[in-house]
Amino acid sequence: MIQKPRGTQDIFEIKSKQYNDLENTIINVLKTYNLNEIRTPIFEAKELFVRSVGETSDVVSKEMYEFFDKKGREFVLRPEGTAPIVRSLIENKLYAPEFLPLKLYYVGPMFRYERPQTGRYRQFEQIGVEILGVDSVYQDIEILAMLDSITKAIKIDTKVELDLNYLVTGKQREIYIKELTKFLVDFDDLCDDCEVRIHKNPLRTLDCKIDFNKFKTAPKMTSFLSKEDEARFQQILEAGKKIGLKININQRLVRGLDYYTGLIFELKYLESSLGSQSTIIAGGRYNNLVKDLDGPDLPAIGFAMGVERLILILEENQINLNHDHGIDLYTIALSPEAMILNLEIIRDLRNNNIKVETDYLNRSLKSNFKQAEKLQAKNVIVIGDNEIETQKIVIKNQINKTQTEVKISDLVEEMKAGK
Ligand code: HAM
Repeated sequence: MIQKPRGTQDIFEIKSKQYNDLENTIINVLKTYNLNEIRTPIFEAKELFVRSVGETSDVVSKEMYEFFDKKGREFVLRPEGTAPIVRSLIENKLYAPEFLPLKLYYVGPMFRYERPQTGRYRQFEQIGVEILGVDSVYQDIEILAMLDSITKAIKIDTKVELDLNYLVTGKQREIYIKELTKFLVDFDDLCDDCEVRIHKNPLRTLDCKIDFNKFKTAPKMTSFLSKEDEARFQQILEAGKKIGLKININQRLVRGLDYYTGLIFELKYLESSLGSQSTIIAGGRYNNLVKDLDGPDLPAIGFAMGVERLILILEENQINLNHDHGIDLYTIALSPEAMILNLEIIRDLRNNNIKVETDYLNRSLKSNFKQAEKLQAKNVIVIGDNEIETQKIVIKNQINKTQTEVKISDLVEEMKAGK
């Protein structure tokens, strides 16, 4: 038997409904913020991620699915959504004033060659948000409000908290990196990754899973913020408190992707069941990325959430986002002649946006009613010789157990009125 690749999932039946409910709920929230959808390819040039996420990041150095096409060009399955959107913005000149600010959301699979475990997959889905063209503290605050709206809409707002940090920018960043490097070089027992990071990307040592405890006394990033950045961070924190999210300042939060500048954040699930995979939404400002990928100087901020992790949390807390999955009508034809009439009836109903199921398996009347119940059918009709002769039909309402006789020619209107 051929099996699915490790770290991937088949999503069907109840699970696929959960995905749909979750996506629809979150997309509805994002639309209230006036975001529009963007779709980009699932594979991109490898160079895009090397130059954005960063060569020394785990994602680029260890986790990408890489391949050459038939002409020897080097591609990867996208490991994340931000760099492709910036590429698309530059390529399609979406930085022209008429498009700005560009407020986008996306939904789709990402691929990382990680060790699979609960909440960690090799193919996983992200819902992401990117807002390009605004460098306002109010936009930063609105992003936090968006996190609040999302967690409220999916009913997990009391079970999460937000870690915030502010990455030093500009000249101050260089000064901080010098200080941090001075602190780091004194250790002679660091992990192999940190030994490389000290020289190539010292900030990333701060959240190293192995050496984490050694760096408790590392110089604090917030002490190196410029006056402007410090004031901005304070403003964000004060506004964030008012929003109602539980906020922690986490001085050692640095994020695993290199493009961030300024505000960064990770929304964590507080209960332990997801273990080390407790980060469900993460993001921040990335004001240099558009420029770094040869575009104009355009500020940006965004975040992405892991859909699988959210689904696990909903399951664990028995949260049902409950979009209506029942059908409007189940029809049963008792003879071949009745089936011909049935086919006409259900085509008309479906053309009028009525959700209908019927039986082609020649089930008994009893098992058809059972099937209708399983599908949460709101109504059932049975078509036999009598219905063909009188051209009338009885709608059996399964919820309040009433019966209404209508002309077959009026069925569509009757069903529309009852929806
Ligand atoms: P990220 O932190 O790499 O950020 O991923 C965002 C979220 O995707 C994580 O918090 C997690 O919920 C989910 N995730 C990541 N890897 C996996 C995995 N292997 N299995 C399941 N879920 C996973 C980004 O990707 C940035 N592009 C976010 C961003 C957007 N920053 C600015 N704009």
